[in-house]
Amino acid sequence: MAEAVAEALGVEELAADDAWWRQAVVYQIYPRSFADSNGDGIGDLPGVASQVSYLRDLGVDAVWLSPFYPSALADGGYDVDDYRAVDPRIGTLEEFDDLVATLHRAGIRVVVDIVPNHTSNRHVWFREALAAPSGSAARDRYIFRRGRGPQGEEPPTDWTASFGGPAWEPVGDGDWYLHLFAPEQPDLNWANQQVRTDFLTTLRFWADRGVDGFRVDVAHMLAKDLSEPLPSQAELTAGGLPDGTHRLHDRDEVHEIYREWRAVFNEYHPPRTAVAEAWVPAHRRPRYASADGLGQAFNFDLLQADWDAAAFRRIIEENLELARASGASSTWVFSNHDVVRHATRYALPNGTDLRAWLLGGGVDPQPDKEQGLLRARAATLLALALPGSAYLYQGEELGLFEVADLPAEALQDPTWIRSNGTERGRDGCRVPLPWTASGPSFGFGEGAAHLPQPPEFAGHAVEAQAADPASTLAFYRRALAERRRLQTDESLEWDAERPDVVHFHRPGGWACVTNFGDTPVPLPSGRVVLASGPLDGVQLPPDTTAWLEPEGLLQERDDITD
Ligand code: NOJ
Ligand code: CA
Repeated sequence: MAEAVAEALGVEELAADDAWWRQAVVYQIYPRSFADSNGDGIGDLPGVASQVSYLRDLGVDAVWLSPFYPSALADGGYDVDDYRAVDPRIGTLEEFDDLVATLHRAGIRVVVDIVPNHTSNRHVWFREALAAPSGSAARDRYIFRRGRGPQGEEPPTDWTASFGGPAWEPVGDGDWYLHLFAPEQPDLNWANQQVRTDFLTTLRFWADRGVDGFRVDVAHMLAKDLSEPLPSQAELTAGGLPDGTHRLHDRDEVHEIYREWRAVFNEYHPPRTAVAEAWVPAHRRPRYASADGLGQAFNFDLLQADWDAAAFRRIIEENLELARASGASSTWVFSNHDVVRHATRYALPNGTDLRAWLLGGGVDPQPDKEQGLLRARAATLLALALPGSAYLYQGEELGLFEVADLPAEALQDPTWIRSNGTERGRDGCRVPLPWTASGPSFGFGEGAAHLPQPPEFAGHAVEAQAADPASTLAFYRRALAERRRLQTDESLEWDAERPDVVHFHRPGGWACVTNFGDTPVPLPSGRVVLASGPLDGVQLPPDTTAWLEPEGLLQERDDITD
């Protein structure tokens, strides 16, 4: 079927362009929730292949596939059993190859997720480690330590894991292993040469299959200083996230690993790209993004910012500066599979405690959804005008909100169990997409979806929006098409500063103006290319972004092509 779609699309092979990633729009697919081809309730690779024309019409440059590897799904696939295989519930390697070919023919690159900090506890290495004695070579691939107490019955330290609970798990013989995430995700020992070599094999395995780039999961945590004495949790976290001195985070040695990876990426033409998921202070980001390292790093600053003009301006300036320092382009992102969808965040007052809000079922405070979607569209249009690459998360183009009232028994995120029901977790942004306004699972598949979809999904379905020029889907399509037409080099100039307004332009006069305030402001001069919401004559209403270009520019460009 994938081949048939490719034939129908009839697009040439992608040109070998070393710089394709610098200003790419990358669309994140969470495969288990995108499209289900066989009605088992789980999205799969043939499902993605069946929607390649949707992705092409949306106008994205690349897709990033979250993990599709064999996994018990203890952490939504970020617990990988085998890095060089496809989960049989999701597809086969052959279907993966078909998907890459089909996407490439549609002019879309492919980025896959690499999870190097930990394997799953079902990985062959971890099974070997459990079967082998304390101090063995098999255990050295992971981080095993003797427990405290006469029989080793106490954990080596009091460290806590990201999803809650202790970070050490006993294996019954006095040894404990470290897991900074779920117990099903034992941390690898990156001081072990076999671990290093094997990941190079994995990178080549996917690069050889035509994968264009890699998203590197928790890129800042691979290198660890576990020399004795180990600090306590309080000592570990004292001072927040500092500069290379934390025992487990953002150590300078991690870049030795990425230099080896870069050498592999550069064996290919064009070189394979990588983007670091590194939760580090902004000034530490260029190390990950440098050309002899991964090449690009996520910037989650706008994602974490309040709806506030001054905050946005400061973050943009700082990140453009950081990108210049590393030689990379900047990245912009508002939503992904780990955070509350931005249409929902912006529906809540600045400063809302999202964890508490989710725990209460998403009713207090009551979200103002109209405002949320208006701001989400305005924020997205602003980011799409910035130099650098934009990362979109599946469903944001449909204006999806967080599903905050999933029944407790449906929750899959380990956070829910590990926190003893005090944190709902991330399932609300992972609910399968609605493709049709009716039918089982709104066209996601023939059966019920693996997470229940709310009735309001009907109005957000692709089918309900595709032909409506006022829809969020139509807005995203136009925004991506206009971005492609207007795109320039990576420079930006600020226009005169006004309170509550962010206003800048790119070379050639492509201007972007956003009104963060609560009263309309005059629109700058020029022809309006696109606005994120209704305009009010020559006024830019609150919570709205407009793109403008100099009057007559289209005319001039026509003259040139003539
Ligand atoms: C970051 C991923 O985005 C998240 O989903 C996952 O739970 C953790 N890393 C652990 O792999
Ligand atoms: Ca399926």
